[in-house]
Amino acid sequence: MQIESDVIIIGGGAAGLSLALRLADCNHISLITKVFLEESSTYYAQGGIAAVLDDADSAESHSQDTQIAGAGLCHPEVVQYVVNHGKENIDWLISLGVPFTRDQDSLDGHYHLTREGGHQHRRVIHAADATGRAVETTLASRVRRHPNIKIYEQHIAIDLITASKLGKNTQQCLGVYVLDRRSNHVRVFRAAATVLATGGASKVYLYSTNPDTASGDGIAIAWRAGCRVANLEFNQFHPTCLYHPHAKAFLLTEALRGEGAKLRLPDGKEFMQRFDPRGELASRDVVARAIDHEMKRLGSEHLLLDISHQPAEFITNHFPTIYARCLQFGYDLTKQPIPVVPAAHYTCGGVITDKHGQTDIPGLYAIGEVAHTGLHGANRLASNSLLECLVYAQAASEHIARSKRQPVSHPLPEWDESRVTDSDEEVVVTHNWDELRRFMWDYVGIVRTTKRLERAQRRVNLLLQEIDDYYGNFRVTNDLLELRNLAVCAHLMIQSALRRKESRGLHYTLDYPHTDNSKPPQDTILTPPSYTPVADLCTV
Ligand code: FAD
Ligand code: SIN
Repeated sequence: MQIESDVIIIGGGAAGLSLALRLADCNHISLITKVFLEESSTYYAQGGIAAVLDDADSAESHSQDTQIAGAGLCHPEVVQYVVNHGKENIDWLISLGVPFTRDQDSLDGHYHLTREGGHQHRRVIHAADATGRAVETTLASRVRRHPNIKIYEQHIAIDLITASKLGKNTQQCLGVYVLDRRSNHVRVFRAAATVLATGGASKVYLYSTNPDTASGDGIAIAWRAGCRVANLEFNQFHPTCLYHPHAKAFLLTEALRGEGAKLRLPDGKEFMQRFDPRGELASRDVVARAIDHEMKRLGSEHLLLDISHQPAEFITNHFPTIYARCLQFGYDLTKQPIPVVPAAHYTCGGVITDKHGQTDIPGLYAIGEVAHTGLHGANRLASNSLLECLVYAQAASEHIARSKRQPVSHPLPEWDESRVTDSDEEVVVTHNWDELRRFMWDYVGIVRTTKRLERAQRRVNLLLQEIDDYYGNFRVTNDLLELRNLAVCAHLMIQSALRRKESRGLHYTLDYPHTDNSKPPQDTILTPPSYTPVADLCTV
């Protein structure tokens, strides 16, 4: 039976959950999420959410820091819009019960604000060092209790159903095909509005801070349906993940450096001042490249992060999760430096949207990490991501509520499985998954060259062909769908990187090591073959 609702939201992170809560009093929502509700990048966010909350801070200063990090590619009107909506969204989270940490020194119960790289002010509100967990679990428990939200866990969206795919002469999103991972049955969801809130694509890299859900599904789904994407060459690598074979790229929050942690070489010497006068608090691209440079220069497998000079009580109060996790691996944060390496962390580019989160296809929205709104430019400022999720959930909710689109009450074509059989060689999927993530790490990583990018392009083309054959012949599975999406994202990232003939922000290539200041900076926009321009995309 087909499932009809007013709005389909694909994704249960900060973006999807906020949107669901903002719409649910007046709309029936289908919320689709591919694992269980709470599993998302949001859940693992540590540092916090950037917003102007202190009288000594200002919107101008937050905007300026965002734009400096973005290296000339932020859209200033978008930056202003997001920054101006920060405080009301934090107040909204507080009203829902998110337990942000209070400042122990404040007599009137102010919230504690921490600092991260690239911020001139303390402006990152947080729940100790597990902000994402506090946000995600608070929102998820509200969503679970709302009578108008029906949650579909263990369901993975495959592809959109659009009017043009059905041979109509109009562009409109009508719904989505979704695989129920438990029954292996593909179901049809219909609605006048569909929202991609599927997060980023950092799992395209071998080492990543992200959970397995971050396989770029929303970017690939939107691209196949005819949406343009932008700036996918800008992959953010977080400088400091715990280096340990069993730690699965556990993040050591930038707030550690905000509270005084130093980066050191294996012999204990500090080095960041050699790379940037801001030292440890330089923006992430600078710090990750400096670490990569020093590791390669010294042939070292890791460098060190050291906060042991701070009082033990301060460390355990501010960073209880990290302290406990490091201890499990035999490292005491209060007593010794911790081995660290960079890992893929955030997808700055994504599906192009306007100021309401609308994509190129009417009725289709994209919010959160999956989207390219123009906020981040060539490098995202720390803790601006959760902020963007919240602000665009609010913007999209207002637009959806105003839009009054016709419901999709007629049945849509069922998923056609008549020509496929069960796979006889699952090993093809696991092999290709490993190969893809390894060559992306080796050839499309922190430091690039045209030759490496071309090498990666040749490999991804082969994989795309092989995956297409496989997809055409066998029943879909979760792993096959994720692999297919990762390969599309890898292809788009490499294409974008090859187009940028300069180094800027997170994209650094030895063939063009300088920023091209001879002309105004340009976004890298890729257009799919099925793209049809629409008139009402509202840029700010
Ligand atoms: P996510 O939270 O990733 O949620 C995506 C959802 O979509 C998941 O529910 C997933 O299951 C679902 N999904 C994906 N594909 C499909 C599909 N095909 N079908 C059905 N469901 C699907 N940012 C900050 O601002 N501050 C921080 O302190 C911070 N710390 C971070 C620490 C870590 C370790 C990580 C990984 C990220 C951190 N970030 C931080 C980045 C930030 O957490 C993410 O950018 C943000 O949470 C993304 O939210 P989202 O709602 O867009 O996506
Ligand atoms: C961190 O806590 O270092 C991550 C912050 C972010 O990704 O914005």
